[in-house]
Amino acid sequence: MNTVIIGAQWGDEGKGKIIDILSDKADYIVRYQGGSNAGHTVVVNGKEYIFHLIPSGILRAKKVCCIGNGVTIDPQALIKEISGLREAGIAVDNRLKISYLAHIILPYHKVLDELRETKGVRKIGTTRRGIGPCYADKINRCGIRVVDLLNPASLREKLNDNLKEKNEIFKKVYRHPGFDFNSLYKEYLNYGKIISPYACNTASLLDKAIKNKKDILFEGAQGTFLDIDFGTYPYVTSSSTTSGGSSIGTGVAPLNINNVIGVAKAYTTRVGEGPFPSEFPPVFGKFIREKGSEFGSTTGRPRRCGWFDSVMIKEAVLLNGISELALTKLDILDGLKEIKVAYAYKYKGKTFTEFPCDSMVLKNAKPVYKEFPGWNKSIDKIRCYADLPKNAKAYISALADISGVRISMVSVGSGREDTIFLD
Ligand code: IMP
Repeated sequence: MNTVIIGAQWGDEGKGKIIDILSDKADYIVRYQGGSNAGHTVVVNGKEYIFHLIPSGILRAKKVCCIGNGVTIDPQALIKEISGLREAGIAVDNRLKISYLAHIILPYHKVLDELRETKGVRKIGTTRRGIGPCYADKINRCGIRVVDLLNPASLREKLNDNLKEKNEIFKKVYRHPGFDFNSLYKEYLNYGKIISPYACNTASLLDKAIKNKKDILFEGAQGTFLDIDFGTYPYVTSSSTTSGGSSIGTGVAPLNINNVIGVAKAYTTRVGEGPFPSEFPPVFGKFIREKGSEFGSTTGRPRRCGWFDSVMIKEAVLLNGISELALTKLDILDGLKEIKVAYAYKYKGKTFTEFPCDSMVLKNAKPVYKEFPGWNKSIDKIRCYADLPKNAKAYISALADISGVRISMVSVGSGREDTIFLD
């Protein structure tokens, strides 16, 4: 069984924990898009691990973890993560496989990301990890890939061509001195040597795995509404975060993907700029942010918080082919008198029950809410659905009804054990 795990909102849904649980039954865990903008948090025996590039399945012995061709790799971040795992006694050798075709993030990508955020015409609120500029080079056919780091002649030619053009732009548009060829060439050739033992043709590796009836878990990063096509453009990331990205970003054909699980928080959050119809007013937003520790695991930025938005979730179900949802952080809603769920938007007298394509509509739309009574009890120690308060069960079942898919898991804490299985 090959399963894709997808964020159904704007990222930070708690995918890391769900992937960690499901990776127990998988043989291969594969990242297929994004880069070190992601921050997947997993808590095992009280110890917290944050993964930016390496699939979180690496915590489970014997699992093979792949970084697919669709991922953008910052070698500095990757090497730091490999060293951190080694220091924690987790062996990565022979279990980490990196696609020859994955694109490499260079310092000029990170600096350009930073400059566009600080001096550009439109601030997106990016993680400033160079993700957008690296994907732009990929599409512009001037990217540098893992395979180029392993071939000095190829790296020399591509880096040289790139710097000729980019240094002019840095100097003329941004008044930045640009980058020196020799030091970058040496540095990245050295990264190539470090990465080389892990580099391979991951599409072929995964094909053999499928033929040998192995189970693959595709680890989505970010979330549906940060997708470059379907998200709240331009306030999105630069990759295909929806389930289709798993095929493009790994070379595994669509017919070999059997199941898509969506992960959604019991409320909604987003980091960075962009529309957010069900966003809380500031004081309540601060209360939930602190209660739910809603601060970015990559940048530490405060996350914006709001009510669960079923217009978005229905769209995420449609775009990804989600067949079941894992609902996370339900415990954060403990003690609220009333809980709201957005089920439509109103704009200029018109009611929208489908997610609008027009960013103007989304920006100015007012959500229409259904209200549910809260529960005045802590649920973080509950492990069985039957033991949940009546109103919590009613909330879960209402979310499943409105979203049109079953909820198979409810998370009530950060540890593996803080999970209620509904099946
Ligand atoms: P970028 O991916 O760094 O280019 O950032 C583009 C947008 O995606 C910004 O709004 C970021 O805050 C958001 N973003 C990127 N990665 C994540 C993530 O892992 N979780 C949540 N938001 C993210």
